[in-house]
Amino acid sequence: MLMFVALLSLLTVGSARKCKDIMVPVSLTAENAVFDIKAPITKIEVTSLFLNMAQQGRDYSSLMQTGTKEISGDYNLAATYCEPDHGPGRELQIMTHGVGFDRRYWDFPHNNYNYSYVEKAVDEHGYSTLTWDRLGIGASSKGHPIDEIQVYLEIAALCELTKQATSGKIAGSYTNFDRVIHIGHSFGSVMTYALADMYPGMTDAIILTGFTHVFSYIPLFLVGNNFIPVKDSPILAGKYPTGYVASASTTSMFVNFFSDGDFDPEMLELSYIMGQPAAPAELLTVGAPVMKKSGYTGPVLVITGEHDLPFCGSDCYATDSLDGTLPSLLDASKEYFPHASRFNTSVVPGAGHGLNYGYSHTFTFNSMLDFLSE
Ligand SMILES: *[C@@H]1O[C@H](CO)[C@@H](O)[C@H](O)[C@H]1NC(C)=O
Ligand SMILES: *[C@@H]1O[C@H](CO)[C@@H](O)[C@H](O)[C@H]1NC(C)=O
Repeated sequence: MLMFVALLSLLTVGSARKCKDIMVPVSLTAENAVFDIKAPITKIEVTSLFLNMAQQGRDYSSLMQTGTKEISGDYNLAATYCEPDHGPGRELQIMTHGVGFDRRYWDFPHNNYNYSYVEKAVDEHGYSTLTWDRLGIGASSKGHPIDEIQVYLEIAALCELTKQATSGKIAGSYTNFDRVIHIGHSFGSVMTYALADMYPGMTDAIILTGFTHVFSYIPLFLVGNNFIPVKDSPILAGKYPTGYVASASTTSMFVNFFSDGDFDPEMLELSYIMGQPAAPAELLTVGAPVMKKSGYTGPVLVITGEHDLPFCGSDCYATDSLDGTLPSLLDASKEYFPHASRFNTSVVPGAGHGLNYGYSHTFTFNSMLDFLSE
């Protein structure tokens, strides 16, 4: 098997993927949460909101939720479809980025695309890939930061995007993929989890990166980000509606996404310069979709950095708070997938939360691609 993989990489040296940026119009409907919270406008309002959300011993989101409301609308999703030089792959990977990034997270240009998962998946392994800016982020349609841009509507967007990609409606995409794989990072993993649970027929394998079922360390992320109003961000002012919140500095990015010794300082700079804000309601709704067991029956990989701050409190092996018998915090997800055909975990040595941006990305990408080829 190893020899075969090595041979395959030799054969594909010099190949270059073909990628196409596309805009996908979608009509979406979702049952969103209604919060008794105003979009935070000033620095003081933003900090107060996140201090409230991070307060231990109470569930601020639930306390502030007064009900649910059906929300519908027409939106555009910005996506990039890639395939090998010689034509579509037999399998399609659909990737959903997390908070702080956009679809470039999966195909990062720094150092001649050395950090690009897409390049490896397409050029070395022959997959087709579809990356997209989550609804509300990057070049996709923006929306109201409390009422509209919530995990629920974004899950509806992932579902619609998948339908269009597999029915040939996305320009250049092949209709007959043997297998459709969904991969998420962080918030995108929550969405991937929800998709596989709600529409099990839509996906044949899932990879949840930068994720665990342990949500007790999310408050570190919420305060560690040093969120400021998007209008006060030198990078993002003018690009998003009022009420979105952005990272204040490279220090915020370091705290939440990087791990000491595992990164090129230029990557830290770039992560900030190319970073994206969040809608507060994304963070208010992030936990809900994964707190129920999944009916999904395909294979699952959970892969997370050893020093992931939001999902491991910076140590995925410290499991005493849960049940000291689990090998790592990632294994807490196993009971949520009682019907999965296969459940695997991989703790990436030395990595932080932003897996694709660390030196350890080679370990990460190999684990993901090995899992998919098993
Ligand atoms: C993945 O999980 C299956 C059981 O679900 C196990 O048999 C297999 O050895 C695991 N693979 C790795 C690489 O851990
Ligand atoms: C790509 O990244 C890996 C891991 O950080 C490193 O070992 C390798 O030297 C890099 N390659 C290039 C061409 O920069």
